[in-house]
Amino acid sequence: MINTEMKLRLVEEAFLARESSYAPYSRFKVGAAILTTDGRIFRGANIENASYGATICAERTAAVKAVSEGAEAFVAIAVVGAEENANLEALDLAYPCGICRQVLREFLPTSGEMIILVATSPTAFFETTLHALLPHSFGPEDLDYLME
Ligand code: THU
Repeated sequence: MINTEMKLRLVEEAFLARESSYAPYSRFKVGAAILTTDGRIFRGANIENASYGATICAERTAAVKAVSEGAEAFVAIAVVGAEENANLEALDLAYPCGICRQVLREFLPTSGEMIILVATSPTAFFETTLHALLPHSFGPEDLDYLME
């Protein structure tokens, strides 16, 4: 479970993460912050590449940081994305891309939804769930036969 205070904290962390964005090509800076089921927060920013294709989104940066530090599941993720000179007080919604949705799906909590917070300002966000953004998804349970 996650209360409003923690949601706002995650949004704040996503804004801080965005400051570390490396986006010289698109100049679209994205920050993300993940709350793990063990209560830790991991920040991530988009890291672009001159090859373009090797670019890594903010959400996946945060996810791989969390899992590589021992996290097993995610309670919530806050995301903020906007062009570098955007007015941060009135942002358009920047939803996680399809690849990031699938990567997040791997780390669903065993009970409850994974909450997605898309920031529209440092103190305002649109709230949805991973399930709403990626219905009928494919996940680890589909490969349970491998465990037989
Ligand atoms: N980007 C993210 O970081 N997350 C998303 O979910 C969508 C896109 C980044 C990738 C690239 O650096 C820039 O935004 C423009 O696509």
